[in-house]
Parts: sequence; structure tokens; C-alpha cells
Amino acid sequence: MTQAPVNVTVTGAAGQIGYALLFRIASGQLLGPDTPVKLRLLEIPQAVKAAEGTALELEDGAFPQLAGIDIFDDAKQAFAGANVALLVGARPRTKGMERADLLEANGGIFKPQGEAINAGAADDIRVLVVGNPANTNALIAQSHAPDVPAERFTAMTRLDHNRAVAQLAKKLDAPVGEVRKLTIWGNHSASQYPDIFHAEVAGRNAAEAVNDEKWLAEEFIPRVAKRGAEIIEARGASSAASAANAAIDHVHDWVLGTAEGDWTSMAIPSDGSYGVPEGLISSFPVVCKGGKYEIVQGLEISEFSRGRIDASVGELAEEREAVKKLGLI
Ligand code: NAD
Ligand code: LMR
Repeated sequence: MTQAPVNVTVTGAAGQIGYALLFRIASGQLLGPDTPVKLRLLEIPQAVKAAEGTALELEDGAFPQLAGIDIFDDAKQAFAGANVALLVGARPRTKGMERADLLEANGGIFKPQGEAINAGAADDIRVLVVGNPANTNALIAQSHAPDVPAERFTAMTRLDHNRAVAQLAKKLDAPVGEVRKLTIWGNHSASQYPDIFHAEVAGRNAAEAVNDEKWLAEEFIPRVAKRGAEIIEARGASSAASAANAAIDHVHDWVLGTAEGDWTSMAIPSDGSYGVPEGLISSFPVVCKGGKYEIVQGLEISEFSRGRIDASVGELAEEREAVKKLGLI
């Protein structure tokens, strides 16, 4: 390994997702086995000790790719020189809460973090927001980082994407590795739209192979969209290892590229494609190459899909209005 280490800043490092995420980053799964990483962990002062404990365990992993760990309770220091920033730290939803309840509670976190990224992150900074409501939190951070190209701020719908892949594979009794070109549109919320009309399973169109609109409308779509709540109900806590796994997938594919003949889902600032108002951070089908993502263009959108995409995008526009009113953007 002769390459200079990549600085990866992780917020909420002492939390549930942080615990599942950090070891995978340290073992080279985020950026590949040949890229050394330096971890920069950000926590609130009360949780710094717990983050220090995790750092001891990371040391005990003796990961050859791990070039160092620093822990901060100050955002400006944590994001200084960051090449990749994983914004996980936020208050998770608990039983009975909707994501909108979190807007105000978590919005306040993302403004100073956006400012800190603007002030000191590396020129090639890539930001993934995991903390909910992820799309709108990303918008808040982005709006306070005017010197960073807007497209570097993304939010995570990869967990929804992976959930949809798994449910579709199960329905068709196919290996997950045979599912391609599935899309999550819109918000990482119960309004999201998992779209199988362009997906392929073992080379066959998925919607044709399923051939069951009732299952699609009444089982598949709500199951994927409400899977977060299903996990909270079952575990008594929000998803953690699967969320960490999806964060690894998101950044890995953004930096190293999506597989040939496939695409993935990322929430990214809209350029107006597919009628999604410009600037909203909404989930699209994307291919990644050379460290950049591009929206897959030219997909036919049926009436069934249109209504669902519009509903989720409408919710994002409402969230944008809500945070505007709160003075967060
Ligand atoms: P957690 O409560 O276990 O951990 C959150 C951590 O963030 C805590 O250690 C807390 O001290 C820290 N934190 C709070 N404010 C901070 C700040 N200003 N700076 C740095 N750290 C801060 O929660 P978790 O289960 O790890 O979940 C984290 C977030 O991820 C939640 O918002 C959750 O809803 C969200 N989530 C998103 C997805 C997705 O698909 N986008 C999936 C699962 C969870
Ligand atoms: C999830 O999708 O599992 C998370 O966003 C947690 C939640 O609040 O649903």
C-alpha cells in the first residue's frame, strides 16, 4: 500500500450504525482492499468515551488498511481534510414516530456540519447522509456548504434498494445476485416508490415475471417502504447492521463504480430529470463510473409509477418548505 490514506469522517460513531460500520470501513470494504483509510470520528461530548472504546476495539482488529483514528467533539476539526463524510449521527426514530417528527430535532445538527464541511473538507469531498430524515438533512447540510459542488451531497436509499432486491428475489425464488436494475424513487420514507418495471431477474423483466399487480401494490411496495418500521417493531430499535451495509455499498459504488449492466439507487440533488423539481434530494436510478454518478435517462414511466413518484417527491417538497420555515435552509 503506497497510496496516501483517505480521510473518512464518520459522525455518530458511538451509535448502533457506527459500531457496525467502522469495522467494515477499517477492513477495506468501503474503498477497496488497497486503499488505506484514516478514520475521523465525531461524537457529542457525552459519547466521546464510548467512541474511544470503539477505537480501542478497532486497534485490536489489527486492520492493515487502517492508518489511524482520531476522535473529536467539534465538527470543524472532524471534517478538516475529509475526503469521504458519512453523516450518521442523529436521533433515530422510535416506535410510533414518523420521520417528519425528526425534522426539527435533527435539522439543527446538519447546518453546523454543512458549514464545517464547507470550511475545511478536501476538494474531492463526497458526503453521504444516513441520519434521518436523510434526504432533507442532506439538503440542509448542502445549503450551508456553498463552496462544495452541490452534487457531492447525497442521501441513503441504498438500504431501501437492497430491501427491494431481497423481497423481489424471494418472490421469484431467485438468487439476489440475479436481480438487476431495480429503482427506488423519491424519499427515504414510507412514501418511497420501489419500481420493478425496468428491473430484470435472471435476464427476464421482473414485472412480467411477477405478473401479480395485487402483490406489487399491496405487499411488495408497502413492505419495502415500511420495512424500517417493521424492523423497529421487531428489534425495538432501528435497523443498524443493514443500514451500515447499505452505507458501505453506496460509497463503494460511488467511488469504485456500479457493476456493468446494472444500476443502483441514490438520493441526489435533482437536475429536473423525470419531472423531479431541481434541487430536491430525491432517489433516482444511477450508474457510477470514474467516481461520478449519472442518472439513468430515458426510462418509460407508466401511470402507475408516475403517481407514486409524484407523491414521494411531493413529500420532499413539503419537507423543504418545512425546513425553510424553520430557518434551516
Ligand atoms: P444511535 O442513537 O444508536 O446513534 C446515533 C449517534 O449519533 C449517538 O451515538 C449520538 O451520540 C450521535 N450524535 C447525535 N448528535 C450528534 C452530532 N451532532 N454529532 C455527532 N454525533 C451525534 O442511532 P443509529 O441507530 O446509529 O441511527 C443513526 C441515524 O441513522 C438515525 O437518524 C436513524 O434514523 C438513521 N437511519 C437511517 C437509515 C437510512 O436508510 N437512511 C437507516 C437506518 C437508520
Ligand atoms: C430504516 O429505514 O430502517 C431507518 O430509516 C429507520 C427508520 O426510522 O425507519
